[in-house]
Amino acid sequence: MRTVIDFHSHILPGIDDGSETAEMSEQMLELSKEQGIGAIAATPHFYAGQTTLDAFLKKREAAFLKIRDAAVRCGIDLFLGAETAFFPGIGNADGVRHLTIDGTSLLLLEMPFREWTRRDVEELEKLTARGLTPLLAHIERYFSCQKDRKIIAELYSLPVLGQVNAGALLSWRTRRLALKLFVHDMAHLLGSDCHNVSSRSPNLARGRSVIEERLGSSCLFQIDRLGKEVFGL
Ligand SMILES: [Fe+2]
Repeated sequence: MRTVIDFHSHILPGIDDGSETAEMSEQMLELSKEQGIGAIAATPHFYAGQTTLDAFLKKREAAFLKIRDAAVRCGIDLFLGAETAFFPGIGNADGVRHLTIDGTSLLLLEMPFREWTRRDVEELEKLTARGLTPLLAHIERYFSCQKDRKIIAELYSLPVLGQVNAGALLSWRTRRLALKLFVHDMAHLLGSDCHNVSSRSPNLARGRSVIEERLGSSCLFQIDRLGKEVFGL
């Protein structure tokens, strides 16, 4: 059976700049259900400089418990993770293992919005050497900062994956780039990066339609197959 997975969301209530209340989270779950989503990675922002890992994990668990029953009612599996902001030293930081999307080796990583350096790539290399798989969050957003193709090539020589935001497929400004990233094997998974039910609401289905229309259903099939694979479904 086909399971559609949203790999990036701020659906947990009251933990970051995403959903503000359990009620809003429930509405986000309903909207996701209507779009045929079967599983959602709940990935609140984690900034190493702003909180401790322990405090974050406790807060995340409390937020999850507030909507666990609603998720069950919607028939959606929620997997706990984080959108971890890159920081120097992340490659050796023990705690990041606890920030992977539950049951997978995927670490949803928000890269710095500046030109990447060899040192940044080395940090990612250290993560991969530890068996983690960096999943580069909204990969389409960084390319305007990158000038050195060699750095991009070195990054993609590592076992990393790219995640594209569905919203990028919906805007004419970013659609071409987002599609190109899938074609060139630089993007592999999709996320809504939903934050609320208004300006940044769950929109995975619309993004998927664009992929189907422009790249064909085989591309969607590959995305779904990889998604299932990483969860061992
Ligand atoms: Fe996000």
